[in-house]
Amino acid sequence: MSTMMGVAHTRLEGREKVTGAARYAVEFPADDVTYGWAVPASVTRGRITRIDPAPALAVPGVLDVLHHGHAPRLVPGVDATLFLLQEPAVHYRGELIAVVVAETLEAAREGARLVRIDYDTEPHSTVLTEHHPGLYRPDKVNPGYPPDTADGDFDAGFAAAQIRVDATYRTPAYHNNPMEPHATTARWQDGRLLVHDSNQGSSPVQSALAELFGLPREAVRVVTEHVGGGFGSKGYAKAPVVLAALAARQVGRPVRLALTRQQLFGPIGYRTPTIQRVRLGADPDGRISAVCHDAISQTSTIYEFAEQSAVYARSMYAGRHRRTTHRLVRLDVPTPFWMRAPGECPGAYALESAMDELATACGVDPVELRIRNDTAVDPDQGQPFSSRDLVACLREGAHRFGWADRDPTPGVRRDGRWLVGTGVAGSNYPARARAAAATATAAPDGTFEVRINATDIGTGARTALWQVAADALAVPGDRVTIRIGDSALPPAGVAGGSMGTASWSWAIIRACEGLRDRIRNSPGGTVPAEGLTVEVSTADEIRAQPPRPRYAYGAYFVEVRIDVDTGEIRLDRMLGVFAAGRIVNPTTARSQFIGGMTMGVSMALHEEGLLDERYGDWVNHDLATYHISTCADVDRIEAYWLPEEDADLNPAGVKGIGEIGIVGSAAAVTNAVHHATGIRIRDLPVRLDKLLERLPAR
Ligand code: MOS
Repeated sequence: MSTMMGVAHTRLEGREKVTGAARYAVEFPADDVTYGWAVPASVTRGRITRIDPAPALAVPGVLDVLHHGHAPRLVPGVDATLFLLQEPAVHYRGELIAVVVAETLEAAREGARLVRIDYDTEPHSTVLTEHHPGLYRPDKVNPGYPPDTADGDFDAGFAAAQIRVDATYRTPAYHNNPMEPHATTARWQDGRLLVHDSNQGSSPVQSALAELFGLPREAVRVVTEHVGGGFGSKGYAKAPVVLAALAARQVGRPVRLALTRQQLFGPIGYRTPTIQRVRLGADPDGRISAVCHDAISQTSTIYEFAEQSAVYARSMYAGRHRRTTHRLVRLDVPTPFWMRAPGECPGAYALESAMDELATACGVDPVELRIRNDTAVDPDQGQPFSSRDLVACLREGAHRFGWADRDPTPGVRRDGRWLVGTGVAGSNYPARARAAAATATAAPDGTFEVRINATDIGTGARTALWQVAADALAVPGDRVTIRIGDSALPPAGVAGGSMGTASWSWAIIRACEGLRDRIRNSPGGTVPAEGLTVEVSTADEIRAQPPRPRYAYGAYFVEVRIDVDTGEIRLDRMLGVFAAGRIVNPTTARSQFIGGMTMGVSMALHEEGLLDERYGDWVNHDLATYHISTCADVDRIEAYWLPEEDADLNPAGVKGIGEIGIVGSAAAVTNAVHHATGIRIRDLPVRLDKLLERLPAR
């Protein structure tokens, strides 16, 4: 029986966080600590020919200027983006090529300003276009999908379709901006490395550091107690942890190193720009017969990161003739990385926009169009979905929003000087789980401790796992302690891919079940004085799970108003309805859904990395110029979820909720903009200057 799961609970560490007692990576005490400040390359492509540290070393308190000439050596081969301070080559503007270490943060910063660096430069290519000569087909796209798929005969099916949509959508670079930047405190002692680091999973960071520094895993410990957001960008070891560890080894003292806000725009990754062509062929009733999604994105010269943007179209809607392709080009840019729903998010913007265009072309209501193209069988894998409640999400959302009797005519509703319109979109996100280990310990006083190296990046994971553990132990929550966020705990995967709760709770439930068995079978059915501990791994069980299409679903409804004179865009209201298996903690789940939806609104209306081709770098690299939705932009935003039971997932029955909120969000906004104005914006973001000249006459 479940008494904790499904019940709203505030974060266990909430008081610590709001009182400032919770410690983040660079706040942990360290004796004799020093400060590192990273130095970015000022050219786009070339080689460092000379570094003159003298002006920096002349600043009182500066201890060293680490660079490729004398930094400790790393073992190559782990990940080229982490092979830092080893070579004179510069691969992109902003690459971190030196670290100034000083007694104070101020001295390190001043030193970094004064380091003199000369370069030989080479011509660069930094702009993604659909005709770039370097476009190629990668062997696979993240996280291991085939780049291209084909079923039926798309060309013939599309040519034969009575209604056709053929549209190309463009999305710019998007930059992860967690409140806490990527940051590390690193120290060496007796050949062992201890870091406090901000990341989404310290077990993989531990492995990366061990390989880079040529150490056994046990010689590296990564503590990740609290994290101020990541959104994917902290899903693996990033520059600060490597730079801090190098610097600490060099100066023989602990080093704290945090990136600046500006340094987050590039070195930690970003969502690749995309160019996506979507073609839909349908009959006059809107039943899709042919679907093709061709996605183009970029990667760097040092690492192949292939965003899986067209994967969404493989499984979302029905259609006999299907094709998807991915093409990539290596540019002189920072390596793109994960950003909330990598692939699904830009892909859904394109496909859910094309669905709206199809609805208009067929004269079919866009909610009804999606219902007509629902499918119980995954068109890609040919297998039934473990559960699929997209239609229920659409119906529930339409009811709550008041969608019935919507006039489909675009650009005709006025409220004073405002044009008013509504839009809808659907979404899916894969429900997966990854192997993890956990231990559960019983003490004779009736209390329990559950240990797993899960990571709470601000989502409420710690609290959800505590709820799961208490239910699995069948005891009240006040008798259970949960310990997470330390690579010394049983290893587990990252808080990413919406897999955290599914993966971690699987291991926790098995450990707790095992512990209850042990207690039952112990003499007298009681816990001995020394306590009882059970350790489990879910690796075998997860490997044995038959593959099957498993997804969470969502539907989004948006109302916008647009000033007919100025083009000013306001989001009046938005609601999302989700089917994501069991919801463990309604309080934190709601924040996850709303946060994802808000990020999609931000993508639709605000965020845009503006590249200056001459320098191959984004000019708007701070929060004054890179606009992100704020509270005032999302006044009325609501999230609901459907009770959903799916026995074919994992013992907790959860599907994961970290990313589903963002997936269809941007398209719902742009579809509403079209309904309000009659203007279809196919290159994000929608800005008022793109609307102004084309608005209906006042
Ligand atoms: Mo998420 S982008 O998989 O951390």
